[in-house]
Amino acid sequence: MKIFLDTANIDEIRKAKGLGVLDGVTTNPTLISKEAHRGTFKEIVREILDEVPGPVSLEVTSLRYEEMVRQAEELSSLGKNVVIKVPLTSDGLRVIKTLNEKGIRTNATLVFSSNQGLLAAKAGATYVSPFVGRLDDIGEYGMRVVEDLKTIFTNYGFKTEIIVASVRHPIHVYEASLIGAHIVTMPYQVLERMLQHPKTDEGIQRFMEDWKKVRQ
Ligand code: G3P
Repeated sequence: MKIFLDTANIDEIRKAKGLGVLDGVTTNPTLISKEAHRGTFKEIVREILDEVPGPVSLEVTSLRYEEMVRQAEELSSLGKNVVIKVPLTSDGLRVIKTLNEKGIRTNATLVFSSNQGLLAAKAGATYVSPFVGRLDDIGEYGMRVVEDLKTIFTNYGFKTEIIVASVRHPIHVYEASLIGAHIVTMPYQVLERMLQHPKTDEGIQRFMEDWKKVRQ
């Protein structure tokens, strides 16, 4: 399973890269806005693209077909690793098809049902991003969409990869990995929490204490 970081924060990206487990990055307008103090949109993005060898999702910010295609072409010219994040609307679906024909990789975002994901795959999306946390927030079982998409893509041989998004805690990662989702994109804090276990800390402390009793 590939691990993406869901952030536009360059320090978090560098830390995850340093751990040796970073396969890519996803951003959205909200995440970019949190880094607005660091510079212009293009300055923020260029830093990320230089740091991450894998795919980096950048989102279009128009809702109109023509403007989304124009923005996508501009964004994809920023680097070979750019993936265009497109919201799952009717215009968005057409954009995914057009970009696919132009050889530009896409990530269908704001996906909340398996039918939306099926349409994105049919349009030629490279990735589809079901938002599990936001579904959990409204009392639905977000991971069900991931399970269903995995089955649907296998049934019909779609090459579209599932990016489990809107991840809030390590249990989401655990469940996604059992389902066989291709990718989980997570906040840095979730990655940190995956690493931690109180019994590991306790074990290290005991080994260190006992080692002091051994004459060197
Ligand atoms: O990047 C899209 C998604 O992961 C957003 O997550 O926590 O804002 O629902 P969240």
